Amino acid sequence: MDSIIVTGNGPLSGQIPIAGAKNACLTLMPATLLSEEPLTLTNAPRLSDIKTMTELLQSLGTEVTSMSDGQVLAMSSHDMNNHIADYDIVRKMRASNLVLGPMLARLGHAVVSLPGGCAIGARPMDLHIDALTALGAEIELKDGYLHAQAPGGLKGAVHEMRFASVGATENVLMAATLAKGTTVLKNAAREPEIVDLADCLRAMGAQIEGDGTSTITIQGVDRLHGATHQVVTDRIELGTYMLAPAICGGEVECLGGRIELVGAFCEKLDEAGISVEETANGLKVSCKNGRAKAVNVTTEPFPGFPTDLQAQMMALMCTAEGNCVLEEKIFENRFMHAPELMRMGAQIEVHGGTASVTGVEKLKGAQVMATDLRASISLILAGLAAEGETIVNRVYHLDRGYERVVAKLSNLGAKIERVSGS
Ligand code: UD1
Repeated sequence: MDSIIVTGNGPLSGQIPIAGAKNACLTLMPATLLSEEPLTLTNAPRLSDIKTMTELLQSLGTEVTSMSDGQVLAMSSHDMNNHIADYDIVRKMRASNLVLGPMLARLGHAVVSLPGGCAIGARPMDLHIDALTALGAEIELKDGYLHAQAPGGLKGAVHEMRFASVGATENVLMAATLAKGTTVLKNAAREPEIVDLADCLRAMGAQIEGDGTSTITIQGVDRLHGATHQVVTDRIELGTYMLAPAICGGEVECLGGRIELVGAFCEKLDEAGISVEETANGLKVSCKNGRAKAVNVTTEPFPGFPTDLQAQMMALMCTAEGNCVLEEKIFENRFMHAPELMRMGAQIEVHGGTASVTGVEKLKGAQVMATDLRASISLILAGLAAEGETIVNRVYHLDRGYERVVAKLSNLGAKIERVSGS
């Protein structure tokens, strides 16, 4: 298994290009199942999760052609010949469940494996099932698979979700585009990836209003047509690289970044004394006055502080001046990076969903283990600012969500290399 070796090397400077959003691309790709005509995505990120979704769609009969070094994905679901999303693929990635809504809408039936346990929490599917059931689907669990059918086709309905789940909102949004009549989804998630999905579906001929607010109205249409859509900027990759100069000092311009994607996060950076400036090409972050100040953070659905930036923010707080509390409200087990950061000298106490951090002046390099995607990058960020060498093991998690991380950080002056293991 490969490792990444990072050696603290002082301030960073330069420009870093931000890729298309993994989480947007993972919901845009299954949208191809809604139409017989081709869907082409541009600005796709080059990640192993995208390969997994490609494999899943191909198993359903979709043709996927990857062009421009993986940044353009041309898909055609003209000849769907399978309606079963197999456990062997679904277990690799929870987002595989996003084929459920579109398959049900297009074919009237779908069989999708339950994703199984996930390191950061239970992550059940009840909100997806409740919402699709409200649209007339009959769903039962047999042998670890959800068997869904809509004998007379899906029908529009008014449905309020108990929690604004991102994935459930995406599944319903896709399913409702081809349902008969009007669907009103209340307490919908408001993430930018949902707006991006709605933009793509509208380009395919769907009638959707209210995306980006908590009430989305979808007027079903008979068919969707082909389209070409550009994937929105990855706000999590953006926030992650904005933290690099915040942790190491220096000045970095994140190309393609926009404040509206990371508003709540930028407010916290401002409180911590990190300057963020909008430029013609993105966002420029500078930290020239020594250590950041400790700030309390609570994760919330968008537009709140994203759970997917909590681990990286903790890396910053480990060397900030003062004490702070990080509260995780989305996932129940998302502090697995804390004990690893403690191996580097961080002072952290975890009690259930909260972590208290007392900033230390300097972290020290150590061997650490990546436990999930965002935890992996938080350890790399911490390593960039630590004294000596940090070896991050199990970096395959990183390949799921960060493309060319070594090249991108090296360009800013970081000392970082990837070594292959057995
Ligand atoms: C998406 C993102 C993930 C991000 C998360 C929250 C993708 C591919 N992944 O995941 O990176 O961390 O949003 O911003 O876009 N829940 C239920 N029942 C359900 C569905 C969810 O109880 O049926 C719970 C989950 O266990 C979790 C919370 O709701 O505690 C949030 O989950 P959800 O918003 O659905 O996240 P995902 O779509 O899985």
